[in-house]
Amino acid sequence: MFGRCPDCGAWNSLQEVKLPPKTRLGLAAEPIAPTVQTQTAITLAEVNHYAQPRLPSGYSELDRVLGGGLVPGSLVLIGGEPGIGKSTLLLAVADKLAQSQTVLYVCAEESVQQVKMRAQRLGISPATTTPLYLLSEIDLDIILGQLQILQPAVVVIDSIQSLYLNSLSSAPGSVSQVRECTAILMRFAKKENITLLIVGHVTKEGTLAGPKVLEHLVDTVLYFEGDRFASHRLLRSVKNRFGATQEVGVFEMVDAGLREISNPSALFLGSREEPTPGTATIVSCEGTRPLVVELQALVSPTSYASPRRTATGIETNRFLQILAVLEKRLGIPLSKLDAYVAAAGGLHVSEPAVDLGVALAVAASFKDRILDPATVFIGEVGLGGQIRAVSQLEARLREAAKLGFQRAMIPKTNLGQDYGLTIVPVATVQEAIRSLPTIGKLI
Ligand SMILES: Nc1ncnc2c1ncn2[C@@H]1O[C@H](COP(=O)(O)OP(=O)(O)OP(=O)(O)O)[C@@H](O)[C@H]1O
Ligand SMILES: [Mg+2]
Repeated sequence: MFGRCPDCGAWNSLQEVKLPPKTRLGLAAEPIAPTVQTQTAITLAEVNHYAQPRLPSGYSELDRVLGGGLVPGSLVLIGGEPGIGKSTLLLAVADKLAQSQTVLYVCAEESVQQVKMRAQRLGISPATTTPLYLLSEIDLDIILGQLQILQPAVVVIDSIQSLYLNSLSSAPGSVSQVRECTAILMRFAKKENITLLIVGHVTKEGTLAGPKVLEHLVDTVLYFEGDRFASHRLLRSVKNRFGATQEVGVFEMVDAGLREISNPSALFLGSREEPTPGTATIVSCEGTRPLVVELQALVSPTSYASPRRTATGIETNRFLQILAVLEKRLGIPLSKLDAYVAAAGGLHVSEPAVDLGVALAVAASFKDRILDPATVFIGEVGLGGQIRAVSQLEARLREAAKLGFQRAMIPKTNLGQDYGLTIVPVATVQEAIRSLPTIGKLI
């Protein structure tokens, strides 16, 4: 018996699970009754297909992330850190769906009074005819009993970590409970054609079984993320059997609940009145949606033996790589300088297309110069300093033009049609820096 997991190194995280006895071939010992035939295989052409329209959730941002609304009979998992607003989102969605069908909201973590209080805060005043049912229960058997009685079309489980199955000895929230409860709910929902929305907590310590163990079971996995100190929230799809992944929806948490932001670029542009040195605007594609985001870089002489590097909203490894390219190809003595970079609005941009913007922001900060605020910078920086082509350039430029940008610096290899902006094509990071009117001659 181990006290420490040999895989992740965590102490006391192992649990005993009794498996059914196996035969020598590794198959379950209990024979499956071969005489009982319950299902026969049919051809694809024989399958009856009823095109069920997708259900609008009441939020067009959520519908877009789902790929055009909720698919009836699907199982959606919504993960997120505590307090991010999962219950707020799902209560509003449940209320909207309840206007056309029976909805059951299982508030396993809260009393029905607490949910009522939230509903009042959100301005939900359900008519007596609206079939939104609440159930404050954690025993899965009782929940399944209610499902049989109520026959709802949509069920919200808030949250899967608080449910428990009596027949398992482990505590609610343990990996086996979470996985088993989800599997049972899934079987029931698929049989009865119920749409299931399941909340799953993600904790930083990983003490609770997070939604990670469930991702392969469900149809769609959405993550609700955001900066605790900022009011905006991002809903991101990481798995979707019915739509594109990496799609994002943007919301703002206000007193009256979540408000959708249909033009999110404005949120990530920061204040544009007074341009500051070391600021560059990039266009990052999150899924199919281009977002115009302001980046800020700061380099200053270091007082440490090894200089500090901090990247907020940008992948640290990419940032380090760009710094190395700048030092090697342009001779900027970054090994003697602390370097910081941050994306505005707490957004996390992980795409390589932001590289050029990061490089130019660092160079501009080094020379304490302002980059043209009406230009967007798009391009991936290779180790040799070359600027590589990016995907979805047309969508990025269209978004920049819509927001009033006049120029775009893009990879030469991407050069094509007329995009409605003045285009500055560049092949290398050296060429990019030399073409900047304010810094070009300084480096
Ligand atoms: N009166 C209020 N005004 C503004 N925002 C509020 C108010 N009350 C709650 N909130 C916001 O709602 C968030 C909590 O929302 P909610 O309970 O939906 O989160 P959750 O993800 O379900 O949390 P938990 O993990 O605890 O279940 C708070 O973090 C806060 O940002
Ligand atoms: Mg909650």
